[in-house]
Amino acid sequence: VPFRGEKVLFPHGGLFFLPVSGIVTSNGETWKQLRRFALITLRDFGMGKKSIEERIQEEAHFLVERLRNTHEQPFNPGKFLVHAVSNIICSIVFGNRFDYEDKKFLTLIELLEENNTYQNSIQTQLYNFFPTVMDYLPGPHQKLIKNIEKVDQFTLEIIAEHQKTLDPTCPRDFIDAFLNKMEQEKGNAHSEFTVETLSRTTLDLFLAGTGTTSITLRYGLVILQKYPEIVEKIQKEIDCVIGRDRSPCMADRSRMPYTDAVIHEIQRFIDFLPLNVPHTVIKDTKFRGYFIPKDTMIFPTLTSVLHDGKEFPNPEKFDPGHFLNANGTFKKSDYFMPFSAGKRICAGEGLARMEIFIFLTAMLQNFTLKSVVDHKDIDISPLVASLANMPGPYDVSFLPR
Ligand code: HEM
Ligand SMILES: *[C@@H]1O[C@H](CO)[C@@H](O)[C@H](O)[C@H]1NC(C)=O
Ligand SMILES: *[C@@H]1O[C@H](CO)[C@@H](O)[C@H](O)[C@H]1NC(C)=O
Ligand SMILES: *[C@@H]1O[C@H](CO)[C@@H](O)[C@H](O)[C@H]1NC(C)=O
Repeated sequence: VPFRGEKVLFPHGGLFFLPVSGIVTSNGETWKQLRRFALITLRDFGMGKKSIEERIQEEAHFLVERLRNTHEQPFNPGKFLVHAVSNIICSIVFGNRFDYEDKKFLTLIELLEENNTYQNSIQTQLYNFFPTVMDYLPGPHQKLIKNIEKVDQFTLEIIAEHQKTLDPTCPRDFIDAFLNKMEQEKGNAHSEFTVETLSRTTLDLFLAGTGTTSITLRYGLVILQKYPEIVEKIQKEIDCVIGRDRSPCMADRSRMPYTDAVIHEIQRFIDFLPLNVPHTVIKDTKFRGYFIPKDTMIFPTLTSVLHDGKEFPNPEKFDPGHFLNANGTFKKSDYFMPFSAGKRICAGEGLARMEIFIFLTAMLQNFTLKSVVDHKDIDISPLVASLANMPGPYDVSFLPR
């Protein structure tokens, strides 16, 4: 992706400094090696005793307990969702989740947390386009850069601890798996696996994985408040397929076409990254009669497919029918591309879809949503913030079922 290795502040739904030499902003051999490694490891091979699915189920449990403790009071669920989602990355990368009150955890989140004042500041936007100049100018983007340095420090400390306690035959998490890979490649002077790329890749997983998924959930919850009849149908399906006595798991999804359709429709409707992330064309290219010279920055927009009026009639309307056949089975669409497409398709797609399914069904298994305003008056259009579509702020109560 973009700018051939420049530093980039990019509003990937939360923060937005996608550093060099991780996965997201690197190219060529570095990208290839790190991406392949991340995909294999995120697919769960040889990493710890718990599967990623179990980690998400465990976190869903903690989230539900926390929601229960709000005792039906209306509140803004944003923070709870960010904590739950980032804990999944913590669990995969560091080997364990953190308690929601843990000081270290809260500091880490604070540093990573979206902060609209910084993130949407004109300086941060400019930084995307003129990183070299903006490096020398004061402004909120400098604070973001400081924060990233602190996160790096945090990660480096944890990596050092892992190095001390590593058992190569029994990797506990992503960091251990990476350290094993470093050892394997010790003789290779050009290895892409170094402490530096490890800490960058870790940061990438946090930055790319937290804002995107937690905002999708936060946006989903406000849409569901607007359509109580949709929530009722999901809950009927939950009661029928899962019941009330066990946690949702991924095997349930294929038997829950309605819920699956609603989740697809949430991602389609919110169109989280309408412009995708910028790419550059790697050679002179002819496209629909236009000539695009090598190295031109392009935005392969996702809105054009997600809101295509032929594939999805009334694309501006929220309608789970967009993903349902007349007989109620799930209807696949090649236009469903919230994670982009091609070689650079989101590396966390599988993880994100697991998180969204399990967190959402666990919440609706245990609670009904009650909005503070009449549901008909809820506005679900996006706040046009920066490059990511976000919902406006709202409060909601979770009523135990
Ligand atoms: C709802 C949640 C998510 C959405 C909508 C989303 C969307 C995207 C999009 C549109 C891209 C750019 C693809 C391109 O360059 O064409 C991307 C890249 C990426 N995402 Fe996600 N993402 C989500 C969750 C996650 C999660 C949970 C992770 C954590 C592992 C993650 C990791 C990445 C990485 C590493 C890349 C860079 C891939 C590369 O350049 O090869 N994403 N994502
Ligand atoms: C976000 O910005 C507010 C000021 O608007 C500030 O009080 C808060 O500490 C900031 N949070 C972080 C994590 O920087
Ligand atoms: C939801 O509540 C039921 C009990 O009603 C419980 O068995 C289930 O595990 C809960 N789900 C989560 C994710 O905690
Ligand atoms: C439901 O309809 C779809 C498309 O119309 C069809 O492909 C599928 O076989 C049908 N399934 C059942 C169980 O009737």
